[in-house]
Amino acid sequence: MSRTSLPAGPRLPKSVQSVAFWTRPLAFLERCRARYGARFTLRLLVAPPFVILSDPDEIKQVFTAPADVLHPGQGARVLAPVVGQNSVILLDEDAHMEQRKLMLPAFHGERVARLGDLVASVTEREVAGWPDDAATQLHPLLQRLTLEVVLRAVFGLDPGPRLDGLRERLSAMLAFGDRFVSVIPPEPGGRAEKLLERVGPFAAFARIQSEADALLFELIDERRAAGAERDDMLAMLLEARHGDGSPMSDQELRDELMTLLVAGHETTASALAWAFERISRHPAVLGELEAELRAGEDDAYLTATIYETLRRRPVLPNVAPRMVMHPFEVGGRLYPAGVGLVPSAYLVHHDPTIYADPYAFRPERFVGQQPGTYTWIPFGGGRRRCLGSSFAMLEIKQVLTAVLNARKLHTVADGFERPQRRNITIKPGRGGLAWLPRRPAGQSPTR
Ligand code: HEM
Repeated sequence: MSRTSLPAGPRLPKSVQSVAFWTRPLAFLERCRARYGARFTLRLLVAPPFVILSDPDEIKQVFTAPADVLHPGQGARVLAPVVGQNSVILLDEDAHMEQRKLMLPAFHGERVARLGDLVASVTEREVAGWPDDAATQLHPLLQRLTLEVVLRAVFGLDPGPRLDGLRERLSAMLAFGDRFVSVIPPEPGGRAEKLLERVGPFAAFARIQSEADALLFELIDERRAAGAERDDMLAMLLEARHGDGSPMSDQELRDELMTLLVAGHETTASALAWAFERISRHPAVLGELEAELRAGEDDAYLTATIYETLRRRPVLPNVAPRMVMHPFEVGGRLYPAGVGLVPSAYLVHHDPTIYADPYAFRPERFVGQQPGTYTWIPFGGGRRRCLGSSFAMLEIKQVLTAVLNARKLHTVADGFERPQRRNITIKPGRGGLAWLPRRPAGQSPTR
C-alpha cells in the first residue's frame, strides 16, 4: 500500500506516535487535526494504519457502510482475551447481526426501565457510604458502584458468596487491563499466548479468569435450571433463541456477560466521573440541576447536562476502528483493504463549525435540542451503535440524582482535570476529586 493513498499524518516513528496517542490522547488528536486537517493517518505499533475521521459526512458514510466492507469486530480484537470469541463486539457481518439480535430485547426501553428500581437501590446504598468529611476521588467509588450495578442488574446476582467471589475476581481482571502490556494481547490460542499464560502477570490473569469463569458457568447452570422469571439481562439472554430455535450456549452466555461488563462498567464510571468533574466546576449548571430536582417536573436539564458531558468528554474518544475489507470510498478518497477507519468522537465534538465555543461546558446546547446522529457520537453509530446507551443514560441519571439529593458538591482544585487513559476509556486525571458534605436532614433539593 503506498503512503500517498492515505491522508497525510505525523511522520514521527511509530513508537513516538504510540506514546503520544497513549499518554496525551486528546491533545495529540487536536494537534494532528490542526496540522493535517479533518482526516489524517496515524501509524502505531503493532497496528495497521489508522485513518482518523472527523467530518460528519465521512463519519456517516462509515457508519452506514455495508457490513462486508468494514469490519469493526476485527478492529476490536484487543478485547478478545477478556470477552471471548463469541462476543458481539468481536464479530462481523451475519455472525454479528445474529448475536446483536439475541441481545437486543434485553435493551428495549421498557425492559431497561424495569431495572430502574434495582439500579436506584444499589446506587442509594453505595452513595450512603461515600466519605463526607474531606476531598475524595470519586472515580474509584463510581467504579465500585457501576460494577455492582452490572453484577446485580446484568448478571442478576443476588447478595451472597457468589456475588462477592465474582466482584473480587472481575475487579482484579479489569485492573490488569489498566497496564500497558495488556493492550498488545497475543493472538488467542496461539503459541505466544500459551507461553505467556505460564509467566508473570499473564499467568495470574489466566488463573483469576478461570476462577471467574467457573463461577459464571455455575450461575448460568443454576439459572437455566430454575427458569424463574426475572428482570435482569441474563434472564433475557436465557430466553433468546437463534434463528434455528436453539438457545444460546453456556459459552455464548459467558462471553456476552463479560462483554456487557467490559462495555458497560468502566465506560459508565468514567462518564460519571467526568459529569461530577464538569458540574462541580460550573456552579451555574449545578444550580440549574438542583432547581430542576426541586421542581420535580421533568429531567430536561439533567439529560442535557449528560449529553454535554459526553460531548465534552466522550469516554471513548474514538469509536472502534472499522477495518477496510475491500477498497472503499469515503469523502471521495478510495481506502485500500487493511486500513482502519476511525471516526473520532472527540474531534467531531470539538469542531467550532458544529458547536459554537466548543470548549465551553454548556448543557443549554441540548435543552430542547436532540443531539445529531453524526455530530454527537459518544455511543458510536450504525449497526454497531452502543447497545447499552439507554441503560447507561438511566444509570447516570440515577446516580447524579441520588448524589445531588443527598450531598452538596464542591470542587477542591483549581482548573480542569487532565484526561488520562484507563483501560479503554478516558477518565479525569486526578480521579474526579470532589468534596461531598451531606445535606442537613430535610434540605435535599427534592424536599
Ligand atoms: C456512558 C457509557 C457508555 C458509553 C460512552 C458507551 C460507548 C460505546 C461505544 C462508543 C461503542 C462502540 C460503538 C461503535 O463502534 O459504533 C459501544 C458498544 C457497545 N456497548 Fe456501550 N457505552 C456505554 C455503556 C454501555 C453499557 C452500560 C452497556 C451494557 C450494559 C454497553 C454495551 C455495549 C455493547 C454490547 C456494545 C457493542 C455493540 C456491537 O458491537 O454491536 N455500553 N459502547
